[in-house]
This record gives sequence, C-alpha cells and structure tokens, in this order.
Amino acid sequence: MGEIEGIDQNNIPQHVAIIMDGNGRWAREKGQERIFGHFNGVESVRSALKGARKLGVNYLTLYAFSTENWNRPQEEVAALMDLLVQTIVDEVSELDQNDVRLRAIGALDSLPPKAKLQLEAAMERTASNKGIQLVLALSYSARWEIVEAVRSIVASGVKANEIDEELITKHLTTQDIPDPELMIRTSGEQRISNFLLWQIAYAELYFTPKFWPDFRESDLYDAIKAYQQRQRRFGKTAEQITLTNEEK
Ligand code: IPE
Ligand code: IPE
Ligand code: MG
Repeated sequence: MGEIEGIDQNNIPQHVAIIMDGNGRWAREKGQERIFGHFNGVESVRSALKGARKLGVNYLTLYAFSTENWNRPQEEVAALMDLLVQTIVDEVSELDQNDVRLRAIGALDSLPPKAKLQLEAAMERTASNKGIQLVLALSYSARWEIVEAVRSIVASGVKANEIDEELITKHLTTQDIPDPELMIRTSGEQRISNFLLWQIAYAELYFTPKFWPDFRESDLYDAIKAYQQRQRRFGKTAEQITLTNEEK
C-alpha cells in the first residue's frame, strides 16, 4: 500500500481536487486546540503537492476555506487567515523553484486585505510557471460560483437560446481548468460540502478515514490506485467501454 510502484503512468488524472477535512478532530484527539490541526495540515499540503508533481498531475485543487467556514468562531477564522498568509510567505520561493503556478478560486475580495495581498503577490510571482497548477479554493463555494456565473451571463446580454454548457463553463472560476477526474475527501465524511458542484459531474469520488494532518504522499498514491481500478463509463455500458479499450 502507498507505493508509487503499481501506478499506471498512462492513466494519471490531469486534475485532482481534495477536500482537506479533519484538522479539528485530529487536534482534539491529541488534546490540542483545533488550530493546532490546521498548522499540521500544512505538511500534508506539501506532501500531496510533492506526490502530485511526481505523478505528473497537472492541476491540484485544494479546498482550504469555504464560504460556510466564515461562520466558525471568529478566533478560528482569524487564525486560519494568519496561517494562510504565513504559509504563502514561507512557501512561495519553493513553489516558484519547483515551477508550481499558484492560483486561487473564490470570493478573494472577502479575505482580509493582508491575505489577499500576499496571495496576489504569490500568484503573480508564479504566473508564468509551467509545472503543476496549485489551485487554492478560498472563501469558495460552488453555489456562490454558480450565482456569480449566472450574473455575468445575464450582464453580458446573451440570448437564452445561446446559453449552453460550454458558455456556463466559461463563466466559472475554473474556466480554463479541466474538470477533476478524481475528488478526494479525508476524515471519513462522505459529502461534497459545496465544492466544485458543476465540475465534478463525472469525477470519481474517493473517501479516506484519515484526518488531513495525517495525509501523506502515500495516501495520494492509494487514491490514484483506487481511481485506476474504476471503470469510467460516462453513461455507456461496460461492454462498450471494453470494446473501445480493445480498439486502442
Ligand atoms: C478542515 O478541517 C479545515 C477547514 C475546513 C478549514 P476542519 O477544521 O473542518 O476539521 P474537523 O472537520 O472539524 O475535524
Ligand atoms: C469543507 O470542510 C470545507 C473545507 C475543507 C475547506 P467542512 O469541515 O467545513 O465541511 P462540513 O461543514 O463538515 O461539511
Ligand atoms: Mg470539517
């Protein structure tokens, strides 16, 4: 388990999305404050990114803070925002050296000014990098994103019969990012919590009981192996899929 060996290099998802969950429970189990879990989750981000780079994943999207998370105790929200700033400051050089392009999706205007500033600086610094794209979902929720998309479509004045899936896709925050083939959630919860609802229409879902601060490269490899065992049928029959594969 957890080895990179055994992964089919010809079937790596282009885009992996992760709902990083369980920081609070991880900390509580250790008799610590919830924020201790958030701090320790940073190492898991490094590890997941490293694993994704090794495999040649092109996009790694991490759900770091949801629209709904603004409803947490103010102290926790503030600590999370400070952690965000600190992590960006600490990591941007290494991201840049590793050719990682940092991006963000979400209502970035609602972030504290300092967080927004550091985030924008890091995105700018890594903007021309050609390696993996690390997409942070911050103050993000899928329904927020869909409302924004509808607003901009209406404002553009297009006619009702000109609206199609492609147009909607172009108005989402992920407009130039392919849909994730694989979505991972840690901590044993089996729900989507308002993440990328449009984009995961056909994603394979993978749930692990591990809390996010315990997630490592090897857990990503396990998720990819599970993904490679799935037959993605897109509405067709299993027989049709086998036939197409034989033609290859
Ligand atoms: C995920 O861990 C991090 C964020 C949502 C910011 P949680 O903080 O949700 O941890 P649990 O789910 O309470 O254990
Ligand atoms: C989802 O985790 C959001 C992030 C991981 C940032 P939550 O812990 O907020 O989700 P729920 O509320 O338990 O569904
Ligand atoms: Mg949670």
